[in-house]
Amino acid sequence: MIETLSGTALPSVPVPPPGPRSRELAAELARWESPNVTYLADDFPVFWDEARGSNVRDVDGNVFLDLTSAFAVTGIGHGHPRVVSAIQTQAGRLLHGMGDVHPPAIKVDLLRALAEVAPGGLNRSILANSGAEAVEAALKTAVMATGKPRVLAFHGSYHGLTYRALSVSGREDFRAPFQAQLGSGTVFVPYPYAYRSPFDGDADAIGEQTLRYIRHVLDTPGTAHEGIGAILVEPIQARGGDIVPPDAFLPGLRQICDERGLLLILDEVYTGFGRTGKWFACEHWGVVPDLMLVGKGLTGGFPFAACTGTDAVMQAWPKSGGEAIHTSTFLGHPVGCAAALAAISVLRDEGLVERSAAVGERMRARLAEIGADHPHIGEVRGRGMMIGVEMVRDRTSRAPAPELSGRLMVEGLRRGLLLLGGGIHGNVLSLSPPFVMTDAQVDHALGAIEEILAGMR
Ligand SMILES: Cc1ncc(COP(=O)(O)O)c(C=O)c1O
Repeated sequence: MIETLSGTALPSVPVPPPGPRSRELAAELARWESPNVTYLADDFPVFWDEARGSNVRDVDGNVFLDLTSAFAVTGIGHGHPRVVSAIQTQAGRLLHGMGDVHPPAIKVDLLRALAEVAPGGLNRSILANSGAEAVEAALKTAVMATGKPRVLAFHGSYHGLTYRALSVSGREDFRAPFQAQLGSGTVFVPYPYAYRSPFDGDADAIGEQTLRYIRHVLDTPGTAHEGIGAILVEPIQARGGDIVPPDAFLPGLRQICDERGLLLILDEVYTGFGRTGKWFACEHWGVVPDLMLVGKGLTGGFPFAACTGTDAVMQAWPKSGGEAIHTSTFLGHPVGCAAALAAISVLRDEGLVERSAAVGERMRARLAEIGADHPHIGEVRGRGMMIGVEMVRDRTSRAPAPELSGRLMVEGLRRGLLLLGGGIHGNVLSLSPPFVMTDAQVDHALGAIEEILAGMR
């Protein structure tokens, strides 16, 4: 009999991954799923069977250490018992409600809890089922509040793949096939990605030049600035490569918005709920947005998201006259509400936001040490347990080396580590481990990564 996963185990990979059962499932999946969804190759992926804490077991019985939190969702650990129990209880009591007609009672509890954890003044929410849907809600809210349809967004940003979310995502690879349908509602400007900025100088100088450029775009006739009502930004760019902006950047955006009557929308779908060592990344800089988007870590594993805003901005929506103009069948799903309430309590009761800050700092320091003289590590950066390692062909040219982050993922898998690549060039090793990862698991993971990197010198 296979033992139940403890969640705190070190990896054990008796069957070289992908094992025979994963291969069988890959062949079967290839028959039934649209071909663009799951990446299938000889050495990838493994199919998951069970997960707990920081461990994932695949269908061949291999136990992995998850350094991805499955897309930065399970900061509180996979299958946290309190979340699972809240889901089971809620499902047994009320599996589905009428979100915008006869709402589930628990929706009120969650809305109140969101207002309590959100930075000051953000106290009204629109609930959603995915991060992209929360982005859609925010962009509609911005139109309601400002009357202006256009948005300033950033190169390299990722806000999801529904049409309007895609239209504000600064990724040509995702946008290209749909370009004709994306409209002209977005003006893109560079994110202060100091390692690869078109501007000169150190990070602070690059931040200042980026802000100056944004002011120029917004204030100069003929720079496509007309009709911009909001700035949408990730406080730390996530899929763009774990890019921490210079300190003056977010406060500068807040000031730019205040001076011009624009809304500041912060996409905290990835960074929210402890990922960066604060409840929300904007707290690193004391910036409060007009609208904030959350998803992923909000529930620790159930599809759910929210757009939370100030009273003033949310009141721009007309009172529902019986037909809500923005809603969906599963809005405020009772099971999602129960999962989110449990996950928020877990984060608070187990001190996991603080743990993310402390363990993340330790991991980053160790990786920076490893990277200090490594010919293929250009930069190690991040906040809390959101860490990026930029892989380059060489440190002089800084040419991106996606083949090396790819190798890290494949070799990591063989050693029992689940790793993800990221960044606009696909050359960033993007670590987002569960905050509950034990010290022994962290040390093991860092040791294994160090060994793989040693083989690349
Ligand atoms: C910053 C950010 N916003 C939005 C999204 C989209 O969320 P979802 O995939 O739940 O639609 C993501 C997903 O990675 C994200 O990282």
